[in-house]
Amino acid sequence: MAIKDILIHPDPRLKTAAAPVETVDTVLRKLADDMLETMYAAPGIGLAAPQIGVLQRILVMDCVKEDDAAPRPLVLINPQITWASETRSTYEEGCLSIPDQYAEVERPAEVEVSWLDVDGNPQSEHFDGLWATCVQHEIDHLDGKLFIDYLKPLKRQMITRKMQKLKRERARA
Ligand code: NI
Repeated sequence: MAIKDILIHPDPRLKTAAAPVETVDTVLRKLADDMLETMYAAPGIGLAAPQIGVLQRILVMDCVKEDDAAPRPLVLINPQITWASETRSTYEEGCLSIPDQYAEVERPAEVEVSWLDVDGNPQSEHFDGLWATCVQHEIDHLDGKLFIDYLKPLKRQMITRKMQKLKRERARA
């Protein structure tokens, strides 16, 4: 496995819709392993392939918060939201591509999602709480959308300027 570099906003690859995965093979399973390792190392609770520059519809997540609980790594290939609750909830979201910036985003509180697993088998699950927020945030990445796109323009521009500064500083380092 290998830890990959996570792209920092602004980057055109983070604004591009990813293509559906056509074949679930060993190359894709290796990508999923690398994504999980990269996510856990960050550390983060979700990561979408475009965030490491791979424009394919695959995401990983693990929203288990309790330190003593077993991890639950999930790999979702070609995920689709098949149902969303009318009830909405607000979470303070962050993103590994927008480090140290957090803002409240309102989304459906519960969603039903279908996807292919790493063996190419169809799966579906009902998510609520943090899992529901996380899976919607990660699916947005596959559509070239970031959580800051839900914010008011002024707030979004402020965060984008901070990220441009961060990238300049990292480039100089
Ligand atoms: Ni994100």
